[in-house]
Amino acid sequence: MKTVLYPGSFDPFTNGHLDLVERAGLLFDRVIVAVAVNAAKSPIFTMQERCELIRRSCMKLDHVEVVSIDGLLVDSLEYYGADAILRGLRAFSDFEYELQMALLNRNLKRQCETIFMMPTLKNSFVSSSLVKEVAKLGGNFEEYVPPPVAQALREKLGVVK
Ligand code: PNS
Repeated sequence: MKTVLYPGSFDPFTNGHLDLVERAGLLFDRVIVAVAVNAAKSPIFTMQERCELIRRSCMKLDHVEVVSIDGLLVDSLEYYGADAILRGLRAFSDFEYELQMALLNRNLKRQCETIFMMPTLKNSFVSSSLVKEVAKLGGNFEEYVPPPVAQALREKLGVVK
């Protein structure tokens, strides 16, 4: 049984994230989406809200589990018995940060491998922060997120449709 841990802030979960979870399901038996703390970010959704939105967005995917984690990512990898960390790469601009994280994690735990997957081109420019910005400014953001997330964003930001 091969398991991959897919960590992120997921504030909120987008179609790009969903794309990756589906792709990872073709390679791994179990995909654990791990909602984690990024010390550099101030999320608009609570940890519990983010987990719930991912669960609802992945309801039809049997290979997916959603957990919240704190502390070091490498410790969660061991705790959940995962074989690797999964991260998405959209553009070259993601690469430096991702490389740094992957190498640091491997330095913290020697057997910690990170694998990268690319979403489909259509989702390559979608990011949680841009979705939030478009939503806050009254733009159309629905096509970039799963329906439960669109609804939650409307409620959170008081967007009237
Ligand atoms: O979606 P994000 O915000 O890019 O995800 C970053 C995240 C949450 C995966 C990263 O900040 C993280 O791993 N946080 C857990 C604490 C940790 O292990 N930090 C060291 C990472 S090298």
